[in-house]
Amino acid sequence: MIDIHTHILPGIDDGASDWEESLALARAAVAGGITTVVATPHHADERYYNKAVDVVALTAQLNERLHEAGIPLSVRHGQEVRYHKELLDNLEQGELVTLAGSRYLLLELPSGSVPDGVPELIYELSLKGVIPVIAHPERNRELAGDTNKLLRLIELGALAQVTAHSLIGSFGKGIERAAWMMCRQGLIHLVSSDAHHCDRRSFRLEEAYEKVADKLGSRIATAYKRNAQLLVDDQPIPSLAVPVVDATGAWGKMKRLFGRGAAE
Ligand SMILES: [Fe+2]
Repeated sequence: MIDIHTHILPGIDDGASDWEESLALARAAVAGGITTVVATPHHADERYYNKAVDVVALTAQLNERLHEAGIPLSVRHGQEVRYHKELLDNLEQGELVTLAGSRYLLLELPSGSVPDGVPELIYELSLKGVIPVIAHPERNRELAGDTNKLLRLIELGALAQVTAHSLIGSFGKGIERAAWMMCRQGLIHLVSSDAHHCDRRSFRLEEAYEKVADKLGSRIATAYKRNAQLLVDDQPIPSLAVPVVDATGAWGKMKRLFGRGAAE
């Protein structure tokens, strides 16, 4: 499995605090069936600033240490970039790094709302060939309260990543409900751990995929896994037919366009 959102780099955000914890997280990832992770330290969230050059260097160091320690995990560089007004300028200036050097940029929104500038930002990024992946929309109160707002962002060109822990229920019933609703409405493209620590907020990715297979069918779980591979390979993430619930709560099949690829 590939995990596209992790806080495995040491000492630069609220994830792994030092090399020891980074290596422990790496061992936990391998034990959980993960072969590749994208390191996505927080950036520009008013608490942490981790510019591209530093993230790339630290990722290379971590890969060396993993090699020395014989831990079979590949770490790719990335960032979890908080929405900020200068984001496009900072991208131009080379301060931002996409996920594994692909066209996909992990975009974090504040937890309470969707700032007014987000739709335009998504549109502007798409004109530059950069596809924002909205990190855990189920944890944004505005999107969780009205999933049509997430649909609009996706129609503008964004993708969305749900967090494994949300699907499992670690963040409470409300977030769990929102996460599954977004999946059922075909608004989710990727599942990832957002792992921070071994003891709390670890990986649990396999468990989340099993739950997806249980609730939505193995085809959807397989598609989510495949999308993570496509992302790190910088390939288009194709359309996917997903089971959805309509406004009356009835189950049906509906085709929703995912990203920019050819239909499945
Ligand atoms: Fe994160």
